[in-house]
Amino acid sequence: MIAMPEEFARTTVAREGAAGAKWLVQLPGIVDELLETWGCVPDGDVLHGGVGVVVPVRRAGEAAVLKVSFPHPGNVHEPDAFVAWAGRGAVLLHERDDERFAMLLERVRPTTLAEVRDGDEVVTVAGRLNRRLAVPAPPGLPRLCEHADAWEQQLRADAEELCHSLPPRVFEAAGATARELGRTQPDTLVHGDLHARNILRASREPWLAVDPKGYVGDPAYDGGTLLKSRALTLWDADDLRTAVHRVLDVFAEAAEVDRERVRRWAQFHAVQAASWGRRHGFRAARGGERLARLTDFADRLAELLTDAV
Ligand SMILES: Nc1ncnc2c1ncn2[C@@H]1O[C@H](COP(=O)(O)OP(=O)(O)O)[C@@H](O)[C@H]1O
Ligand SMILES: [Mg+2]
Repeated sequence: MIAMPEEFARTTVAREGAAGAKWLVQLPGIVDELLETWGCVPDGDVLHGGVGVVVPVRRAGEAAVLKVSFPHPGNVHEPDAFVAWAGRGAVLLHERDDERFAMLLERVRPTTLAEVRDGDEVVTVAGRLNRRLAVPAPPGLPRLCEHADAWEQQLRADAEELCHSLPPRVFEAAGATARELGRTQPDTLVHGDLHARNILRASREPWLAVDPKGYVGDPAYDGGTLLKSRALTLWDADDLRTAVHRVLDVFAEAAEVDRERVRRWAQFHAVQAASWGRRHGFRAARGGERLARLTDFADRLAELLTDAV
């Protein structure tokens, strides 16, 4: 039987409670069954991200990974996105078992883009990948445009209910993004969680994406996802404005998307994050002084992204 990583078990129970604990008990059995069904043998230590375990395996000598995710609605469309890409910019899907939230995927190297020190290179790689992943969306995937009204309502509630010092124009700009960019979006496949730990070193292409949400919408949306994921790397920047605008420039050019759209989505994500932090905390800090500093930083990002430069 496969040994499950302790940290993965701890964070799953912390996030999902009793349902998480119950699933963790079943997980080794699920893995064993799938290994047998798909004719695989384990081939290395079990890896994990936030929601899934990733078991390196071999099938008929070929290196692959078995990924089993926590059965959460947010993880339903991952295999659909892989099918649509058919290996373009992302790892190949060999097998799927939707009932168990499991997939057999092409194995690539364990190195992630998060290990690359040069910030411009990280953003360029992510931008180019965003371009490759922007294919026509298959039917049946969640459409970002369907969230636009709820986003706008939530922003209004956040502005009124939360204790913050953001000027009204910051919330208004985010609301305008939800309305003007959010309501009508192209039928393009969007990764949805494009950050450096979901981009892995490969040989078929230099880097390949894993762990997509599989949304339909604006290819510029994930520029905001990426910038949000890079926020802590910008913490010590001498000139935060210049550093933030550099990320927008580099991403927009590499992804061949409109820079102004990337700025607006990034501003929207930053405002959402500042409010989310106040309501629920961040993974990096659930409360106390550190959370206060993180929400302040999210505010600074949101505010400086509000100005079109
Ligand atoms: N196809 C793969 N080949 C090699 N390693 C992988 C592969 N997919 C995932 N991994 C490893 O497992 C980690 C978690 O995978 P990921 O799909 O991002 O899970 P989660 O949904 O939990 O974030 C990755 O950061 C990477 O180290
Ligand atoms: Mg991941």
